[in-house]
Amino acid sequence: MPIDLQWEVPGDPGGLETFLSRVADACMELEGISGACFAVRVVDGETIRALNREQRGVDQVTDVLSFPTVRYPAGTTARDNAKRLRREYDPSLGAVNLGDCALNLDRAREQAAELGHSVQRELGYLTAHSAFHLMGYDHMTETDRRAMRAMEKRAMAALQLWRDPKGGIRMTHQELFNLACEVHVNSYAPYSKFHVGACILTEDGRTFQGCNFENASLGATICAERCAAGCAIAAGARRFAAIAVAADEPAWPCGICRQVLREFAVSLDMPVIAGRVGGSFTVKTLGDLLPESFGPEDVLNRE
Ligand code: THU
Repeated sequence: MPIDLQWEVPGDPGGLETFLSRVADACMELEGISGACFAVRVVDGETIRALNREQRGVDQVTDVLSFPTVRYPAGTTARDNAKRLRREYDPSLGAVNLGDCALNLDRAREQAAELGHSVQRELGYLTAHSAFHLMGYDHMTETDRRAMRAMEKRAMAALQLWRDPKGGIRMTHQELFNLACEVHVNSYAPYSKFHVGACILTEDGRTFQGCNFENASLGATICAERCAAGCAIAAGARRFAAIAVAADEPAWPCGICRQVLREFAVSLDMPVIAGRVGGSFTVKTLGDLLPESFGPEDVLNRE
């Protein structure tokens, strides 16, 4: 994995290392380098302040600090410095060590709340920012800032991490619904002629589209929601943040789909957005649609 995660705060990092590794891979691929890695320390506000003071002489809390191993000549980035990078090859890591960075979890939590997305996505964005610093990008001048920003945006887009025009990573109900409408055209429904598109937004900001596909043996039919869920699961996602469903006529997910969503929903407050294709939509929560529900914790948490 290109990321060595050092979790220096209370709690459990969950699948963060895998997620941040995907972010790092996307950044390196865009830069055109491979076989490199870096360490990501996740620390609290006080620790990053001390680091900032000790390493940079700035006694201030910040969101992210990056410490590249390579000194890139002005105007160049990793792609122009193959030789310098090779010198940083670390046999114990089996990779070129680009350096390390520290992410402030306290600040990431605040920024995630301000931007309306998950802490994981905020940490992903901060990791991308660091990755580009570690590959020689900077934001001292306006031109450099633009170039770095463009790379960050491309990395986020490659990961399907949604960004709003203000630079946050966010997806509105309308945008998720539009993706459900978009995939509706692929619905295979020769029997019912009821075409459905769905799109799931996962907690790490990816989107997965699905459509219903019917079968001559009618019972083998798969709904759009479960088609989208299958794509998400196969891509390694396990936490669903929202789903939109667009159909010929407004329809809420069927009972089986509600139960499948229940398995992976981040919470019962997960928004379910439903409406007619190209029309308006209504938002309910999964808890509204599946009250008194039965979920994984009912089976897994028994004594
Ligand atoms: N269908 C869905 O895709 N999602 C729902 O939530 C309700 C039903 C599909 C299944 C079948 O292909 C068609 O709509 C008619 O039941």
